[in-house]
Amino acid sequence: MVGAPEKDPREEVIQAWYMDDSDEDQRLPHHREPKQFLSLEQLAELGVLSWRLDADNYETDEELKKIREERGYSYMDFCEVCPEKLPNYEEKIKNFFEEHLHTDEEIRYCVAGSGYFDVRDRNDQWIRVWVKKGGMIVLPAGIYHRFTLDSDNYIKAMRLFVGDPIWTPFNRPHDHLPARKEYLETFGKTQVGNHAVDAAA
Ligand code: LAC
Ligand code: NI
Repeated sequence: MVGAPEKDPREEVIQAWYMDDSDEDQRLPHHREPKQFLSLEQLAELGVLSWRLDADNYETDEELKKIREERGYSYMDFCEVCPEKLPNYEEKIKNFFEEHLHTDEEIRYCVAGSGYFDVRDRNDQWIRVWVKKGGMIVLPAGIYHRFTLDSDNYIKAMRLFVGDPIWTPFNRPHDHLPARKEYLETFGKTQVGNHAVDAAA
């Protein structure tokens, strides 16, 4: 169709929306009423990067190889979240959903199943990022976030890292960490034209 806006193919496997504030089951979508979606460009403004890759061929995928080379992701393993595969499943599920940050990027490539990565926007609102098979995201160092399975209850994620992995979560508040300060300096202000604008302004 002439003039129809091109749909971002990544959005078939990665979608983002603002969450409601109900305490209901964390595995439900928690859309606001009416639904309030964000584009992947809006996520990128918070430092959250995303790709759509061929999850059936990750072993030979040149695009993945290129991303790993360019970004220095030398380490790789898989994390399967289900009671049979994840030791201390219940405790891990609980910890994943505690709001936290890391001093390094959190890189997750969903090769099977799906899950919700929730991130805070500049006004401390929760954005739910639904990642399905083929979706890969990078959460920048210092962003407050959490993870939960969705109601399908299963994800298999490739975890990437620069060098030896450090998975330590620093539960909120950990605002004094350099990684947090650097995050706010880089992504805490919106760019309007050439001028940085405080989120609160
Ligand atoms: C992690 C996700 C759960 O830190 O945020 O592994
Ligand atoms: Ni994390």
